[in-house]
Amino acid sequence: MNTLAEDQGHAKVAAPKGRRSFVMAMFAVSGTVVGALLAIPLFRFATFPLRKTASEDDWSDVGLVTDFNALTAPVAKTITLERRDAWQVASSQTAVYVLPGSDGVLKVLSPVCPHLGCSVQWQDAQQKFICPCHSGTFAMDGTRLGGPPPRSMDTLESKVENGKLKVRYQYFRQLVSNKEPMA
Ligand code: FES
Repeated sequence: MNTLAEDQGHAKVAAPKGRRSFVMAMFAVSGTVVGALLAIPLFRFATFPLRKTASEDDWSDVGLVTDFNALTAPVAKTITLERRDAWQVASSQTAVYVLPGSDGVLKVLSPVCPHLGCSVQWQDAQQKFICPCHSGTFAMDGTRLGGPPPRSMDTLESKVENGKLKVRYQYFRQLVSNKEPMA
C-alpha cells in the first residue's frame, strides 16, 4: 500500500506532465527568440565584408578645401589609406599631388609614374613634374611631355565633403597607354 507521501510523489511526477511540457515549450520559444536576437549582430558581423560598399572606406581625407584656396602650383599631401582584408583593416600612408584645375576645381594626381612606378617629383624651378628614374616629364596638370612614360600622370577621383577635399586612391597599370585601374 502506498503512503500518502508516495502518492503525493506520484502526483508530483504524473500530474505536472502538461505543465512540464508547457515550461519546456516556453524555454524552447524563449531560446529561439534569444538565439535570433544574438544572431542578428553575429550575422551582421559575419556578412560585414559582403555588405560593405566601396564608398565607405575608399575615400581618404586630403585636407580642408580652404587650405588650397591660394594654390598656384601642385602641392604634395600625405593621405592615409585604409585597406580592408576580410575583417582586418590595415592603414598605410602615401602621397598625392593637389593642383588647381583649369575650371577652378581642385585636381588630385597620383605621383606614381606610369612608366615603372617611381615617384614623380614636382620641380618648382622648372615648373614641371620630373620622374627621377628615367627622366619622364609632365606638365603642371600632369600631361605627359616626354620620356618613356606611355601616358600622362593619373588623375585620382576626388570630391569635396563638409569642406574637406577627399580622394579615392587607386593604383593603375604601368607601361600601358590607357589608364587602367588595378583590382
Ligand atoms: S619610372 Fe618614371 S620615367 Fe621610368
